[in-house]
Amino acid sequence: MTLVTVIGTQWGDEGKGKIVDLLAEKADCIVRFQGGNNAGHTLVVKDKTYKLNLLPSGIVRDNTVSYIGNGVVLDPFALLTEINNVQAQGLKITPEKFVISESCHLILPVHKQLDGLMEEARGGMNLGTTRKGIGPAYEDKVARRGIRVADLKKPEILKSQLEAMLNHHNALFSGLGLQAVDLDDTYNDLMKIRDDILQYAGNVGLELDKAYTQNKNIMFEGAQGSLLDIDHGTYPFVTSSNTAAGQTSAGSGFGLARKAHIIGLAKAYTTRVGTGPFPTEQKNDVGEYLGEKGHEFGTVTGRKRQCGWFDAPLVKHACMVSDVDSIALTKLDVLDDLEEIQICSAYKINGKVIDGVPSHYQDWDDIEPVYETLSGWKGQTTIGAKSMDDLPDEAITYIKKIEKLIGKPISIVSTSPERNDTILRQDFF
Ligand code: GDP
Ligand code: IMO
Ligand code: MG
Repeated sequence: MTLVTVIGTQWGDEGKGKIVDLLAEKADCIVRFQGGNNAGHTLVVKDKTYKLNLLPSGIVRDNTVSYIGNGVVLDPFALLTEINNVQAQGLKITPEKFVISESCHLILPVHKQLDGLMEEARGGMNLGTTRKGIGPAYEDKVARRGIRVADLKKPEILKSQLEAMLNHHNALFSGLGLQAVDLDDTYNDLMKIRDDILQYAGNVGLELDKAYTQNKNIMFEGAQGSLLDIDHGTYPFVTSSNTAAGQTSAGSGFGLARKAHIIGLAKAYTTRVGTGPFPTEQKNDVGEYLGEKGHEFGTVTGRKRQCGWFDAPLVKHACMVSDVDSIALTKLDVLDDLEEIQICSAYKINGKVIDGVPSHYQDWDDIEPVYETLSGWKGQTTIGAKSMDDLPDEAITYIKKIEKLIGKPISIVSTSPERNDTILRQDFF
């Protein structure tokens, strides 16, 4: 196996960063293929914690080259800040180690401004976005007025491209009685960082194709989660990209990506940050316990994540959409102190078990989760387990129950934020 994809099967923050970093030991190339700096991936390596938004999680390893594929929307200012931050932590980011696709669309300050404005305009129906400009940048991409990394190479055309984009948005700003975004300021700010960005620019699809023919191991790192997918998630309470594994090829320009072993990341419970449906949410002591014990605060915005029981129909839906091969179950240790654990095994609407998940967000409110209750392993710890034999019997029963309900094997079990506190039941590379 030389190709592996890691995606989230819930609403994000499943621990993708930790698992990608761990598996990167044997990988040569790590590729981001969608999303932007709305992602927050945390890596804990001995006494150091890295918080990554745009940089792929292989960046901390000397043996890997990190790629940002064309499917990512790239805030160039945020990227340079992130590079400075990790360099201050001792990492070296060089063009030999880090490549950005020339076809990446840029998130500009106007997109961040629009993100905030649209959230305010939605009132009670706001999405709780990260306000990083993700949605507006993808809108401009699809509307074919976006600015890409390659455009930075031609300053003589760039100004007129920016003018066309800003004319479109300034009509809205003027309609709302707001100050227009200044063309010269936008252009000059971009020109200041142009060379810093262009030093990393390259042809990601071509480089991955070459790496593959040289038998290199390539890993694709998803951002967000399957239920935040623009098509297959809880629309409109989603992000603006396809987060499912099918996006790996389109978002990198490397068609063979679709042949990867697909690892679906799932927490041993469920969390969500932002607004929208959440059938197994526990607005009670259990939710508080999971949030506190699991340190469930967003990496990007610091917001408190809502918490609830493991939701098998949700993860099953994600596994179907992405053709997941195996599951990495994270944060099992967070359940360590519970007497009893509930797991949602099916959804009922009007008393009848339904197949799949609803399309309309209002129908999600009608879901009655069907719960099964399992014994916890209170008093015993799972932290640091290196094999299944190290786990309490009740934890093994819980893992087997999840495998049965979603119909996929669990290939990885994670029991702490630390890189090595992980049970690897399968060798991927
Ligand atoms: P990502 O967005 O999917 O990469 O996940 P985040 O990094 O946003 O959130 C996951 C959080 O849980 C991070 O703070 C990780 O350090 C932490 N984490 C990852 N795996 C485990 C685990 O098995 N147990 C515990 N207790 N924490 C974990
Ligand atoms: P990682 O990669 C959790 C959520 C936001 C909001 C919705 C839309 O760390 O798992 P956006 O800014 O994308 O337009 O916001 O999506 N969201 C995430 N939630 N983890 C993430 O990424 C997320 N990225 C976006 O909270 O509800
Ligand atoms: Mg995260």
